[in-house]
Amino acid sequence: MSAVWGTQSRVVLQVGTRPVLRVWDGATRLVHWLLVALVGLSWWTASHHRMNYHRYSGYALLGVLAFRLYWGVFGSTTARFAHFVKGPRSIWRYLRSRALKAAPGHNPLGALSVLALLGLLLGQVTLGLFCVDVDGLESGPLSHWVTFETGRACARLHRIGFDVLKVLILLHIVAVLLYWVFKRDNLIRPMITGSKGWSHGPLPRIEFAPRWHAVLGIALAALLVWYVA
Ligand code: HEM
Repeated sequence: MSAVWGTQSRVVLQVGTRPVLRVWDGATRLVHWLLVALVGLSWWTASHHRMNYHRYSGYALLGVLAFRLYWGVFGSTTARFAHFVKGPRSIWRYLRSRALKAAPGHNPLGALSVLALLGLLLGQVTLGLFCVDVDGLESGPLSHWVTFETGRACARLHRIGFDVLKVLILLHIVAVLLYWVFKRDNLIRPMITGSKGWSHGPLPRIEFAPRWHAVLGIALAALLVWYVA
């Protein structure tokens, strides 16, 4: 085993003949596990009527999602939407190739679940901002922009959206486990460590975004949360 640090931080380690490739940057991994924690917190606070904390967890989710959208454009290769969002033809080709080839980052099918999860989470957070409570005591911070009826409709959709989100999260976790069990492709470890053993052909080229991109993204996301809150 020997360490081989590439200029693009591509190969970080050589285990026998198999290179270990850095596929996820720290920001993408942190976003992922923050989403897991914050969705859990939002769920718990809503079901225990801790609405003050629910609101804070919503603000934090808004910031994390805003950063993820920014990172999808200005982040590292594997985090960029342009890199992993594919058209129906590519998804079909991927499904037909029996091997379901490993991808550096999201595969074309996984990309669909990423978009669905991020889109639904964003919808949930946005609806939460406009929700109106029956007695008006626990309404969202932008609820004064809409009528009482619209605010109530947002609250109903917010509740339904969460049920859909639970189903999507379950499917997401089942899909990850199926890859592990049936394809022996452990996707969880790379989401924790950032690296993945690569024995799937030529090494892909992955560019990692400089740190100042992340700093700027965090500042912009914080500004948005400050404005909304
Ligand atoms: C609240 C629960 C969860 C949410 C909202 C969620 C959301 C997401 C999102 C948005 C991504 C895309 C990452 C990105 O490109 O930014 C993702 C990827 C991923 N998630 Fe989750 N996740 C959840 C729970 C979990 C759990 C519990 C696991 C572990 C069992 C997991 C494992 C993964 C893995 C391995 C990937 C990368 C998949 C790939 O390689 O394409 N997630 N998740």
